[in-house]
Amino acid sequence: MFQAAVQTFSVSAAAASVYRGVFLVGFRRYCKKTSTKLRVSEALTGAEVGADVKVQGWVRSVRSQKNNIFFHVNDGSSLKSLQVVAGAEMNDPLLTFGSAVEVTGILKKSPHQKQPVELEAEQIRVVGGCNPVDFPFKIKERHSLEYIRQLPHLRCRTNAFSSLLRIRSEATAAIHSYFKDHGFVQIHTPIITSNDCEGAGELFKVEPSGPDFGDDEEFFSVPAFLTVSGQLHLEVMSGAFSRVYTFGPTFRAENSQSRRHLAEFFMVEAEISFTESLKDLTKVMEDMFRSATERVLARCVEDVDLFHRHVTPGHRDTVEAMLNKSFPVITYTEAIDILNRSSEKFTFPTDWGCDLMTEHEKHLVKHCGNVPVFVTDYPYDLKPFYARDNQDQPRHTTAAVDLLVPGIGELCGGSLREERLDLLMARLKQYLDLRRFGAVPHGGFGLGFERYLQCILGVDNIKDVIPFPRFSHSCLL
Ligand code: 4AD
Ligand code: MG
Repeated sequence: MFQAAVQTFSVSAAAASVYRGVFLVGFRRYCKKTSTKLRVSEALTGAEVGADVKVQGWVRSVRSQKNNIFFHVNDGSSLKSLQVVAGAEMNDPLLTFGSAVEVTGILKKSPHQKQPVELEAEQIRVVGGCNPVDFPFKIKERHSLEYIRQLPHLRCRTNAFSSLLRIRSEATAAIHSYFKDHGFVQIHTPIITSNDCEGAGELFKVEPSGPDFGDDEEFFSVPAFLTVSGQLHLEVMSGAFSRVYTFGPTFRAENSQSRRHLAEFFMVEAEISFTESLKDLTKVMEDMFRSATERVLARCVEDVDLFHRHVTPGHRDTVEAMLNKSFPVITYTEAIDILNRSSEKFTFPTDWGCDLMTEHEKHLVKHCGNVPVFVTDYPYDLKPFYARDNQDQPRHTTAAVDLLVPGIGELCGGSLREERLDLLMARLKQYLDLRRFGAVPHGGFGLGFERYLQCILGVDNIKDVIPFPRFSHSCLL
């Protein structure tokens, strides 16, 4: 009995030791597998110093020394990259500038002041090789925006463009937050529509393509286009919601190669019901601009700094001036007076009734102290059918407003809408039903999101602030 017990014990002791061994091997493997996966930005906070971590990203620089190799890994989560230190024996010919890697190791406090932490590599896996000779970006070189623009499939790998994309993402979130915090309901306005809201005829036609359809066959029962503005759909909603907005892609077939125009751009549009004057609109435009810009400056410090220091030096002062002063308001008539009193020679005429061109807009901004300026009450004939008639004499104007900003010119266009059926009737036969059932005074505006990014970053060409620019005669990626 005792013997049996001893035997049983020794068998189970042996089994236990086998189990323990298996367990330990398994546990170690398990530990390896569960190295904490960190994004570079998380690793750089230093919160995980001492931990076994795994970082994945693209190599931004490599330096080999006798005993060690040093390289930087960036995964798009921050401008800064994480330095990896590895023994020379871990070097791999595929570990080059531009290659994609996965590194496991221990996160250590860095002895260098420049970086808070570094990753001491235990394992390096090159996930995707990159021949640095063919790679169009060169290590430690600063490439111009013009150069990287020619490489739309690779420019996200540069510091400048990845900073831009993070800023763009933060600005998008900031604009949504502003509207949410101020009680606006977001409406997903359609991209395919049958109306030309602006009436300017700059439309892209939408037609079906495929075996089920013949040439020129319509898909809908009416001709269809890509939207030029969500305004009319917002106006529909403003018959039941006092504050609505939309933020989405907008399309205009403008045959322009300018630095301010795209064929596909993003527009932020808001519509506010029960308005009393243009002030109800200008207040929202100014508050939104300020709130979004302050949030971007606060949350994207390094990315914005890269632009304000290296891409557009001196622009930080312009942005600070914009935020420190309230935006002046002048009427179109005052604007024409300012232009006519100026000693500057303009290419385009400045008679009352002429449209303000970019050269005029830039002059007005400078005249007002290089801060954003609202121009209100444009001539009746210059603005679309929906702008509210001021019914003034002898100079007939509408309650329309543009926001002009330094370096760009027009950033926003808006107006009080003509809610009076009889006046609208005279101007337009369509859309009258919108005014027949409980119409209220309302107004809204649209802000060109790419121009907004140009404005806060000082970027000269609109093609440098959108991931994949579409413009006339461009190739499409
Ligand atoms: O002034 P716009 O044409 O106004 C409207 O579309 C109104 N329906 C908006 C509204 O009241 N809901 O366009 C608004 C803004 C312009 O001020 C400009 O910033 C931008 O959109 N924009 C463009 N941005 C890039 N490329 C283009 N082709 C643009 N056209 C207009
Ligand atoms: Mg406009």
